[in-house]
Amino acid sequence: MFLLFIISFCVESTIGELITDFNSIQHQPRKFNRKLFVVVENDREIKIANEHNDRIDQIIIKGFSIDSIQTGIPKVQGVWNYSINSKERFAHIKFDNFVNIINLSFEIANSIVEFVKKYNLDGICLEGLENVFYITGRSSRDVRLILRRIGIELHNINKKVYVIIPPRSVAISGTTINSLQNYIDEFIIDTTDYYSKSLHSSHCSSPLMYVENLIKDCTSKNKELKSMTSISIDLSGYKFCPNYPRSSINITSFQTILHNLTNSTWIEECQEHSFKDPNNCEIMFPTIEYIEKRINLASQEGLDITLYHIESAHPNIFDLF
Ligand SMILES: *[C@@H]1O[C@H](CO)[C@@H](O)[C@H](O)[C@H]1NC(C)=O
Ligand SMILES: *[C@@H]1O[C@H](CO)[C@@H](O)[C@H](O)[C@H]1NC(C)=O
Ligand SMILES: *[C@@H]1O[C@H](CO)[C@@H](O)[C@H](O)[C@H]1NC(C)=O
Ligand SMILES: *[C@@H]1O[C@H](CO)[C@@H](O)[C@H](O)[C@H]1NC(C)=O
Ligand SMILES: *[C@@H]1O[C@H](CO)[C@@H](O)[C@H](O)[C@H]1NC(C)=O
Repeated sequence: MFLLFIISFCVESTIGELITDFNSIQHQPRKFNRKLFVVVENDREIKIANEHNDRIDQIIIKGFSIDSIQTGIPKVQGVWNYSINSKERFAHIKFDNFVNIINLSFEIANSIVEFVKKYNLDGICLEGLENVFYITGRSSRDVRLILRRIGIELHNINKKVYVIIPPRSVAISGTTINSLQNYIDEFIIDTTDYYSKSLHSSHCSSPLMYVENLIKDCTSKNKELKSMTSISIDLSGYKFCPNYPRSSINITSFQTILHNLTNSTWIEECQEHSFKDPNNCEIMFPTIEYIEKRINLASQEGLDITLYHIESAHPNIFDLF
């Protein structure tokens, strides 16, 4: 009876640990042969990215925005004071609030050129196309003209432009993406907000099928687009408890609660792992298998990968690439 208890305790306590043994990942030469980008949000993430710069092709630093609050003319906000071990310096700029003025695309492009020159950056990564769409009176034409103008002006001075493509976007269609092929250097498909888009119908964070469909939306017009398209992987875990909002979980807190998790399931339709804790909370964490499935997809399709929330992940995961 006692022995049985010990055995069953061991089985329970190793649930999850086997499939989440990040320590078992071997250090090895880089094998992912497409580009790997990371979007970083703070000094801790910059430090982690710097430590793994043998695998990371581009560190993109968050914290900049463009608005027109002060003068009515769009202006990039934020100060570049970062030191990164990366060949190129990229700033992530979010389209914030601005008024719709005549010549908006020129004014936005001017402000971005000024900012890029001021800090001698190599490129920018733009986010917030939906904002531009609504500010311009639901004009996907204006979204296209603005991106085109930014591309022309920055390419003139040998700088690069990446754009984050929101999922199932009203602002930008597959046709528009195709028409921007010569003006934009990388389209980063945002695959990380499935949860808010799906209105809680599923706890999966980014089902593989969903990612595959977004790739189709983005690249089906022209196969060449694949070589300049990236999928994103969110390395944060998430916890769902009855009657509580979703909260994030990092590797440290995940490993602390791991021995308390009572059940783990591989959800086939999402290609994700789900864990249950004694309080009936569900935990979704990007396990080794989860990450590998997404790397395999990118490799097969010839796509790049952009990582988010690297601070939440085990440092060994970089060796999966
Ligand atoms: C960089 O600038 C930001 C905003 O001005 C500031 O919060 C941050 O502390 C600065 N970082 C360094 C390393 O100076
Ligand atoms: C818009 O800006 C461009 C470049 O700055 C300028 O050449 C053009 O005349 C402007 N058009 C209007 C309507 O202001
Ligand atoms: C992980 O999350 C815990 C709890 O939220 C927090 O205290 C800790 O600082 C986090 N660790 C890292 C490396 O982010
Ligand atoms: C594990 O569960 C026990 C009993 O429910 C609880 O007392 C303990 O705080 C939990 N440990 C962690 C790290 O959540
Ligand atoms: C684990 O949970 C899933 C659903 O959450 C259930 O289908 C499965 O039977 C459970 N497995 C065990 C061993 O309790």
